[in-house]
Amino acid sequence: MGVLGLGVAAVTTSCGSKVEGKETNAAPEAPKEVTVTIDLKDIPDDKFGELVKYGRELMMNTAKYIGPKGSAGQFTGNLMSCTNCHQDGGTKPFSFNLLASHDNYPQYRAREGKVLTLAERVNNCVTRPHNGKPLPLDSKEMVAYLAYLKWINSFAPEDKAIKGQHNRKLDLPDVAANPQHGAELFVQHCERCHGKDGAGQLNPEGTAYTYPPLWGKESYQPGSSMHRVVKQAEWLKNNMPYDKTDKGTFLSDADALDIAAFVNNDELHQRPNPKSFDYPHINEKAIDYDMGPFADTFNATQHKYGPFKPIISYWKEKGWKYSL
Ligand code: HEC
Ligand code: HEC
Repeated sequence: MGVLGLGVAAVTTSCGSKVEGKETNAAPEAPKEVTVTIDLKDIPDDKFGELVKYGRELMMNTAKYIGPKGSAGQFTGNLMSCTNCHQDGGTKPFSFNLLASHDNYPQYRAREGKVLTLAERVNNCVTRPHNGKPLPLDSKEMVAYLAYLKWINSFAPEDKAIKGQHNRKLDLPDVAANPQHGAELFVQHCERCHGKDGAGQLNPEGTAYTYPPLWGKESYQPGSSMHRVVKQAEWLKNNMPYDKTDKGTFLSDADALDIAAFVNNDELHQRPNPKSFDYPHINEKAIDYDMGPFADTFNATQHKYGPFKPIISYWKEKGWKYSL
């Protein structure tokens, strides 16, 4: 991702990402957070509402319409659904929540080094985690995604922060994440649903996953944000194991990082070939993005697994904005 932190205090950036760092305590009080729920019964009964409903359907059953055998055209390269990561169609707190996305674009994205529209940002997910090719910007499907995102955004309060709009930040340990320990935790906490081989399990119709794949050719590309260890761990913290986070979090920060390090270990696990790695300005690259060249003196292994604190200190000293 390309959310730019400001490096020092707990500043909420244009797209609201809280910057990692202890100094955050000194920041001014955050606005009160509210839990936002949407009600599908409120979708208007008109042309716009029809598209909102289709957009919701595309979030929940992506491949049925735009997958490798999709009824509306072949765009995504795997059978995953958007909601596998943006749970409850992007409305679940702490699950790469999309409630405010419509307000937050167009937005500068470091990954591309330019300002993207929301449609272009949707296509980033169609191409990377879904290993596909972009939807035409004027296609009914793209317009439906945008209509849906606009509609869910209408539930967001103007003067208050949305609870779980951003995933929880982790306390970064002083040591590197440990994929070997992650492998043990995977057997304990993840394997029963996602499988020993990480391939997940399709629904009986074969149109979507009951348990989505975590690696392999049917999973997300290495260039996806889910492939970043910190990014994934922040998400795991509130969302996995799926049946144990109803009341909040389950994994410790360190365990979430170790598991993400195991899942995203490219020596152990294959993925589809990436098509691009972008970041035209290397000192805007996310700290936990493991593809060089790097603007600093740390190697790819440290960028991938940490320890991250020395990298953050280095960036702060240089006066560069960093993101995690
Ligand atoms: C494998 C997980 C995964 C899947 C599947 C996925 N995404 Fe994403 N998506 C992400 C991650 C990670 C981000 C970056 C979030 C961040 O930086 O906090 C993201 C970001 C986005 C954003 C930008 C949000 C913002 O406000 O900046 C949009 C819009 C989006 N995704 C839409 C979609 C759509 C539509 C689909 C289905 C076609 C989809 N995503 C599928 C993981 C996924
Ligand atoms: C009880 C079953 C279950 C368990 C246990 C479980 N998951 Fe999941 N996982 C799911 C389901 C279901 C989804 C899709 C969520 C949705 O569509 O709303 C998912 C989605 C995911 C995703 C995002 C989609 C993808 O495939 O990339 C990741 C990453 C993930 N799980 C990792 C893990 C890890 C790591 C563990 C162990 C800590 C774990 N899960 C434990 C059921 C489970």
